[in-house]
Amino acid sequence: MFDLVFVGKFPYNGQVVEGSVAIEEGKIVRFSKGELKGEKILRLGRGQVLLPGMIDVHVHLRDFEESHKETVKSGTMAAIHGGITTVFDMPNTRPPVMDERTFRLRGRIFRRSYADYALGFLLAGNCEEAKAVKADFYKAFMGASTGGIFSEDFEADYSCAPGPLHVHAEEASLIIRFPERPPIVEVVAIRKALDAAERIKKRLHICHVSTAEGLKEILKRGFSWVSFEVTPHHLFLTRRDYERNPFLKVYPPLRDEKDRRFLWEHIKDVPVIASDHAPHTPEDKEGGAAGLPGLETELALLLDAVNRGLLTLWDVVEKTALNPARLFCLKTKGFSEGKDADIIVVDLKREWVVRADDFYTKAGWSPYEGWRLKGKVIMTFLRGELVMEEDEIIGRPRGERVAKENGA
Ligand code: DOR
Ligand code: ZN
Ligand code: ZN
Repeated sequence: MFDLVFVGKFPYNGQVVEGSVAIEEGKIVRFSKGELKGEKILRLGRGQVLLPGMIDVHVHLRDFEESHKETVKSGTMAAIHGGITTVFDMPNTRPPVMDERTFRLRGRIFRRSYADYALGFLLAGNCEEAKAVKADFYKAFMGASTGGIFSEDFEADYSCAPGPLHVHAEEASLIIRFPERPPIVEVVAIRKALDAAERIKKRLHICHVSTAEGLKEILKRGFSWVSFEVTPHHLFLTRRDYERNPFLKVYPPLRDEKDRRFLWEHIKDVPVIASDHAPHTPEDKEGGAAGLPGLETELALLLDAVNRGLLTLWDVVEKTALNPARLFCLKTKGFSEGKDADIIVVDLKREWVVRADDFYTKAGWSPYEGWRLKGKVIMTFLRGELVMEEDEIIGRPRGERVAKENGA
């Protein structure tokens, strides 16, 4: 008799199958085509599917001196609400996480986290400090973005990184010449990052690829140690939307329809989808802040896209859970026997309308306000515990820091 058994549809070996998934002591212990016996049994309804909780490798949770924009608490409640059970915390905070003391402080405030988390460390000429901490990943900006700190010498920072390096690829010298940040700003930076990767051959992850040229370049070189992500906003919005709504300012910027289409045409080759949740209040947006909230719309947008035939449910599972777990060596994550029971139940047939008023993020607005989406996350389980049901967060913060495979 298992602690908890889900009965219904779930993804297995590239397909969606019918059967049961058994949970014991917070772990997935058995997949079966038949019906397993459980202390508690949860039968999925029509249109419902069990999926692995999302691992979002790009999230700005603010807090510290920017608690009006977001806190670890509000941001991870938003994550859980959106079906995201693990977040990667971006270090361009105020103050930035780029010394040992601030890193330790960051770790401490994550006791308030509702989601499991990986802690990032900002690299910009502070190699000794970087080596003194054991961050789960490192982050470098090739050109200035929110926070303003960037690498004067990207290769030096990349060579130094004691773990996987996530890079914001926009070329500093070109940002000065072209403050609107057209595609060339990204493409040149991506080429430079790939040239460095060819020599240095260490784990590199290119954040938010937004241009057709940039994506082509990465796929052409095909380095096994280089991964990358695309964001929902670059998949669902364009420059046209920005021209109508200045709140949609983001770095890298929303692109032309042909770039957006190119991302979709090559979606099979995209290993990771990540939100780049970058909350700013409406007042901060009025002041020109770049960045968009995205945790509570990310999976629903993807489910809506599944309903429209743009990608399969298995694609979603790979890009939001399986690949992030594998690429970043998360020991207890993934969707197989023995892994954490981070599970969501989605209703593929449920239609709803995006209202930022219903969200947990402190941003207070959404790029997708008023959009009608088909597909919604209705339950979230973190390590076997129900933590969200029908928009309500349940229980206390119980997020834990991720464990890395052989300390990678
Ligand atoms: O638009 C952005 N906002 N791009 C970034 O790289 C950072 C982010 C933020 O932190 O607001
Ligand atoms: Zn970025
Ligand atoms: Zn970001």
